[in-house]
Amino acid sequence: MGTGSYLPAQVLTNYDLEKIVDTSDQWIRERTGIEKRHIAAEGENTCDLAEQAARNAIAAAGRETKDIDLIVVATTTPDQVFPSTACLLQSRLDIHGCAAFDVQAVCTGFIYAMGVADNFIRTGNARCALVIGAETFSRILNWEDRTTCVLFGDGAGAVVLEASDEPGVLSTHLHADGDYASLLQVPVGVSTGYDKMRESAAFVEMRGAEVFKMAVNTLGRIVDETLEKNGLDKSDIDWLIPHQANTRIIRATAKKLRMSMDRVVVTVGEHGNTSAASVPLALDVAVRDGRIKRGETLLMEAFGGGFTWGSVLAKY
Ligand code: ACO
Repeated sequence: MGTGSYLPAQVLTNYDLEKIVDTSDQWIRERTGIEKRHIAAEGENTCDLAEQAARNAIAAAGRETKDIDLIVVATTTPDQVFPSTACLLQSRLDIHGCAAFDVQAVCTGFIYAMGVADNFIRTGNARCALVIGAETFSRILNWEDRTTCVLFGDGAGAVVLEASDEPGVLSTHLHADGDYASLLQVPVGVSTGYDKMRESAAFVEMRGAEVFKMAVNTLGRIVDETLEKNGLDKSDIDWLIPHQANTRIIRATAKKLRMSMDRVVVTVGEHGNTSAASVPLALDVAVRDGRIKRGETLLMEAFGGGFTWGSVLAKY
């Protein structure tokens, strides 16, 4: 029904990063396509970003907060251990009583949240769902580790889904394989102990080249699975809205779809990798600048920590 997004005001360019770690604008641009990213200000948290994106999406949908009867927030960087960011957001939006919960699938989080919300609507358990991807990923970055800190940014994106006789979401496809946890992880958490968190710090660790290879292969497979399930051909897809991790990964998926890059929404240059926020942010950018039009067929896909991966095929 509507999309919205929000980016924190503060921008960190590759040139700014040159002053923090041993890197260069040229290296980051050539390997990832990233030029800059937004970073949440001190005291600005995931729920703040989520709230702005949610209000923008609800307004774009022509709905009011009282119409929402399900809130699903995808995030890896919640404000608190509990309540969930979805519950914190529910209170901010003055919504009471409906189900509200977080989904954790790292970069695939928004795709997972869409899958969950779509199933709630299909089974008649919700009529009007607010689905959000929101992250302050900068808070789990080691700003001394050049192999990770240059890749990520903060932001939030949101959509409103509503029950309808005409299908908008055509299918969702969710997958995971926990055997690959060690390739991309924050290796500590609540249960393993806060002391440990303080000493070794709760930071992202990644074996980038291996993640890259897995992402390219897996995203190719998910595209085939999605098209097959819907009896569609590659040429039936109007827009590819991929997870924004790296332009080289995005180009490889577009090539697999035999899609020209001008039918692919690419925001990684300006946003960096915003994890669960990346797909809804890119979607909102392309809806608001008029590229994506009503009735067009959109393929959204993502790959991330877990490993998790998935896709959503939808008519806008
Ligand atoms: N600046 C300068 N040099 C760097 C930097 C940096 N920021 N980071 C690493 N290097 C150096 C490395 O130390 C290495 O140096 P060496 O050859 O002297 O050892 C050299 O650059 C090459 O490093 P590689 O890791 O082999 O570089 P690669 O071409 O694989 O690119 C990258 C690294 C960009 C991380 C790539 O592997 C990638 O994009 N992987 C996908 C990871 C990803 O996107 N993860 C996000 C979550 S999952 C997802 O969203 C898909």
